Amino acid sequence: MNYRHAYHAANFADVVKHIVLLALIKSMQRKDKGFLALDCFSGIGVYDLHSTFAGRSPEYLDGIVKLWDYAKNNQLDELTSDFLNLLAQISDNNQRYYPGSPFIIAKTLREQDRAVFNELHPEDFPTLKENIIEFRRGCSCRKWQFENSDGYQTLKSKLPPTEKRGLVFIDPPFEKPNEYDLIIDGLAEGLKRFSSGVFAVWLAIKDEKQLGHYLNKLREFQKEVLYLEFTLRDSKGKSGLTKMGISIINPPYNIEQMIKPALLTLKKALKFDEYTNFELKTL
Ligand SMILES: C[S@@+](CC[C@H](N)C(=O)[O-])C[C@H]1O[C@@H](n2cnc3c(N)ncnc32)[C@H](O)[C@@H]1O
Repeated sequence: MNYRHAYHAANFADVVKHIVLLALIKSMQRKDKGFLALDCFSGIGVYDLHSTFAGRSPEYLDGIVKLWDYAKNNQLDELTSDFLNLLAQISDNNQRYYPGSPFIIAKTLREQDRAVFNELHPEDFPTLKENIIEFRRGCSCRKWQFENSDGYQTLKSKLPPTEKRGLVFIDPPFEKPNEYDLIIDGLAEGLKRFSSGVFAVWLAIKDEKQLGHYLNKLREFQKEVLYLEFTLRDSKGKSGLTKMGISIINPPYNIEQMIKPALLTLKKALKFDEYTNFELKTL
């Protein structure tokens, strides 16, 4: 396990991903009934942008820093504004810390909701627990469980949820060449146990052929799927990630309308070159 998310925290892909995650949680909360948020690949929950990890190749400069700067002089849509307010809870005005998915989940779940945070890395797992427990103050939801296992296994061991409502967040490291296949197998297991669940998968897009194959496999589940793609820059001759996707199986009602204004904001705020753009479509 070589991947450490601290190298990439707060980059453009994180910002897009976390705004969509916030929208998903808010959509789930349109109903009073509680739900399970299963975070299969949690990371450490909070990232210090001044750490040596983040400083090695400061991807956050093309991500959250651009959004923070944009927000100083521009009107924001409601979702992006809510997202920045959430960030202010850990960063205050010094803009030093950036939240991961567990922080966003812990801070937004209600008393009746429940969370499972799973992280396999032996060093990152205790850090995750410490970070999230430290931010416990002001959190309504106290039903948190921390797991130190394989993310794909949790799609078997934690589903279906007793609440019969759930948001499953799958955000793997894409270290392995067959990660797309692992996701499809994991989704098959998850859907077998919990066919009405909302399954959101973040995707690193480096190979269009591989992506096409994945999207075709998703269609075979014969479920409603919302697919979002965000491109920051032209991939030719550029190192690093230039394009990301999120596929959402069983998307909550109206999520598209919620996300679109934020994507328009991000397109302007994160603009790198003329390739900066997004696509949102039903598969
Ligand atoms: C992209 S990061 C997750 C970031 C996090 N979801 C966020 O939004 O802040 C992927 C994480 O998965 C962890 N990981 C790698 N392989 C795993 C596995 N098989 N099961 C669970 N976690 C794994 C890595 O250590 C890393 O922290």
